[in-house]
Parts: sequence; C-alpha cells; structure tokens
Amino acid sequence: MTDKNRVLIFDTTLRDGEQSPGATMSHAEKLEIAQMLDEMGVDIIEAGFPIASEGDFAAVSEIARQAQNAQVCGLARAQIPDIDRCWEAVKHARRPRIHTFIGTSPLHRAIPNLDMDQMAERIHQTVTHARNLCDNVQWSPMDATRTEHDYLCRVVEIAIKAGATTINIPDTVGYTAPRESADLIRMLLERVPGADEIIFATHCHNDLGMATANALAAVEAGARQIECTINGLGERAGNTALEEVVMAMRVRNDIMPYQTGIDTTKIIGISRRVAAVSGFAVQYNKAIVGKNAFLHESGIHQDGVLKNVETFEIMRPADIGLNETNIAMGKHSGRAALRAKLRDLGYEVGDNQLKDVFVRFKALADRKKEVYDDDIVALMQDSAANTDSDHLQVRHLRVVCGSDGQSAALTLLVGDEEKRAETTGDGPVDACFNAVRQIFPHEARLLLYQVHAVTEGTDAQATVSVRMEEDGRIVTGQAADTDTILASVKAYVGALNRLIVRREMTGPDSDAKQISMYSH
Ligand code: KIV
Ligand code: ZN
Repeated sequence: MTDKNRVLIFDTTLRDGEQSPGATMSHAEKLEIAQMLDEMGVDIIEAGFPIASEGDFAAVSEIARQAQNAQVCGLARAQIPDIDRCWEAVKHARRPRIHTFIGTSPLHRAIPNLDMDQMAERIHQTVTHARNLCDNVQWSPMDATRTEHDYLCRVVEIAIKAGATTINIPDTVGYTAPRESADLIRMLLERVPGADEIIFATHCHNDLGMATANALAAVEAGARQIECTINGLGERAGNTALEEVVMAMRVRNDIMPYQTGIDTTKIIGISRRVAAVSGFAVQYNKAIVGKNAFLHESGIHQDGVLKNVETFEIMRPADIGLNETNIAMGKHSGRAALRAKLRDLGYEVGDNQLKDVFVRFKALADRKKEVYDDDIVALMQDSAANTDSDHLQVRHLRVVCGSDGQSAALTLLVGDEEKRAETTGDGPVDACFNAVRQIFPHEARLLLYQVHAVTEGTDAQATVSVRMEEDGRIVTGQAADTDTILASVKAYVGALNRLIVRREMTGPDSDAKQISMYSH
C-alpha cells in the first residue's frame, strides 16, 4: 500500500446526518458519538454547523476540545459571519478545519440571485477569508453533479487558488451514477490547474440507492476522501454509509486497493448507538449492520455455512465487531457473564451502568425464559434512549381490550405528584396515549409510531419508537418490553420528557435549527 491509496474518511453523522428531520441528538449524545468516531479512526469529524444554532456551536466547540486524533470540522455558508462563527467553534481542535460551501448549479445560483461572475467573486472572497483563519479549508460546490462542467472547473480553480486544501464534490440530490461520478473527478483532475495539489472528496446522497457505488467510483477516479455517515443517516434517503464503503474497500481490496484508518471492529457498536440516539432504527436487511446481514435462515444456506462459512459469508461478523454467540442467558446468569456478553455485543460499560443494566436484565429474565443477544441489545438501547429527564414516569398501567372496546387506566408520576387518568380510544395504544395526554396536556404532533419484535416467539420483547414534533422541535423516544403496550407508553413518555427538556432549557439543546442553506 502506498500513501496515494490512503482514503480519508470524513464522517458527517453529526452534521448532514443530524440535519435529517427527526434525527436530532442531544448535546451529550453528540459528544459521545464524536468520541466513538474518534476512537474508531475517522480522519475528519464534521461536528456541526456552528451558525445554525447555539446548540450546534456548543457541540462543535466541545468536540473540537475533546477529539484526540481526528480533525474537527464545522460547516459554514459562503458568508463572512458564518465562517467567523465556524472558526470560533473549531479553533480549539488540535487539527481544525473550516468547510465552506455554496450551491453552484443553475437551480442553486438562482436562489441567492447571483450570476456566474458574482458567485465566482463570492467564492474567492470567502475561501480567502477562511484560509486567513485556518490552514485547513474545505470548499464544496453544492449540487456539483448538476453544475455546468466549465463553470465547475472555473470555480474549483478559484477555490484552490484562494487556498482550499480539500475540494468536496457533492451529489447533493443523489442524482449521479457510478460512471458519471468517476468521470467528473477525472475531468476535474485533468482540467483544473492545481488539482493535483489538493484532495478531492466525494459526498454522495442515496436518493437512487447509488451513494456507496458513486463514492467508490469517485475514489477509483482519484478522489481520496469519502464523506459518509454511520448507518447512512441523512436527509431523505440518507448519505453514503461509512460501514459500506469501508467494508467494501476491505473485502474487495483485490480490485479496490485502498486503505482507511478505520478499526472496523468498532462498526457495530457505533451503528447501534447512532440508531438508538437518533431514533432511526437500522433496517433488518441493511448491508453490513442490519440484523439479518449475517443471518442464514434458509436450509441450503445454513447447511453451506456449517460446512464452510465462506460459502455464503464474504466477511466475518467479528470483522465489524459482532461476536454474538446467540447462546441464551437466563435468570441464573451473573453480573460477570452479562459484562462479557455486553463486550461481545460491542458495549463497554462502566460499573454503574452495569449495575443498572443488570437489574433490568434480571427483571427481563424473570419474565422471559431465555434472554437472547437481541434482547440485550434492546435493553441497552432502551436504557440509553430516554435518559434526558424523568419528569414523567410510568407508575401503573391497566389496559382492557377486546371486541367490546378498549380502555386504559394510567398512573403517571408528574414531578412529585401521582396523577391518574382513565380513557378509551381506537385500540389499546390510542387509549393509553389519550390517557397520557389527559394527564399531561400538550400539542405535540405524533410523527411516527413504530413497533419491532426483537426476537421470535410470543414472549418476545417489542421495541417501540415514537417521534413527535412541537414548534419545529423534533424528539424521539424508545422503549423495549415484553408488554408491547407498556413499551409504547414508555416510548411516548420518553419522547415527552425530551420535549420538556428542550422547552425549558436555555442551553445547547434548547433551540430548533432554522437556517437556510443559501448564502444571500
Ligand atoms: O449535500 C450537500 O451538498 C452538502 C453540502 C453542504 C456539502 O451536504
Ligand atoms: Zn449532504
């Protein structure tokens, strides 16, 4: 391997991923994810958009201070105040980076109403300004894949001359295809003076399901930085998934002889954590990190895998940190066994957390004969999901349901006071949610209510996700229980607790992001 085959991994889970409606993370969660990214060997962490909100600014500054290895980057529009604010946040990092951008395609140029020359001048001014603050500047022509080639070459050249050290080529709307993605990078390398002195990055969205293929094609053509997110989190169909590009280059190193600095055994741990804190569950058949990615159900497959794993497995579960044995635990399993199991599942827990999880594990084992790996993952996600506040707590729930109607009697602890409501509804979940609303009146809209069975069998736990919106603030709640209705109420109450925190706080988690991506 030569250095020229080293591909930098730029993770934007905390910026482009978190920008996805509903994926909002709390300040503490952002710091935790950033630390995991840093430890897994990501080269650059895009930690947020500092001018977008006080919360983003605080998170980027804190992550900049905390990162031990990775460069820390903030996003800024092509405006001097944005760039200054970004620098204020990232300057604490050992290796800070400013990432500034402007939409260069005809559609995007029309919005700030800049003609080609005016936009070129703006790019020159803003990149020069950023470079005067920081020697590590990334510039992006947003919607590059729909920008006229001559104009793209012209503005990329201006940005390089003004001091940009990385030029990122975004496929903002997921419109390109692999051959075109490669041709674009090749064209820029051939036509733009100075292009061989800087690093080209590829930033793909997944609207047509081609983000991974497009990113890898760009690398084959000479790009040496991939922008991606954990689990492919991101607006609409998401961004290039980190785990997919990294594992593709590792498994098919024979035809893609590129190297990254990622410790792939950390993939499953961070994937699960991002799913839990963002409230975006990973689809079962998602490549690399989906629940079924290494599962062999059909008889033919199972037979083959038992004889020789390579018949149906192109990578080993352990490569991504999955050491699941699926040997069930039960109520006689002790604390040491639980800690070992958690480690196998990719969780490192401190003594206090272990104590808490152990109590919950025992309670589950009392209700369920066999506790499988997926049950423990659900338990971990449940305990991590609703930690913001416990202003509302479920004390008691009794549900009557059947063909004669549905009703719920619910007792919630609200602060220090126990309150009770008895209501009916269109089904047991609706009756319970009505009871919560009667006890704690609110106008938040329910955006998502989703139930997943964790394992097979009628005694399986259900994980429930709830997403709600109030005045532009979107919050999620998650809970797991063998009682689906109880899990639903806990998830709903968890989301409300987060909303209460967001309403009341004046600190980093208080504000809703309301910012246009355009530079006027
Ligand atoms: O998709 C995009 O164009 C972006 C830019 C801000 C880089 O995320
Ligand atoms: Zn993007």
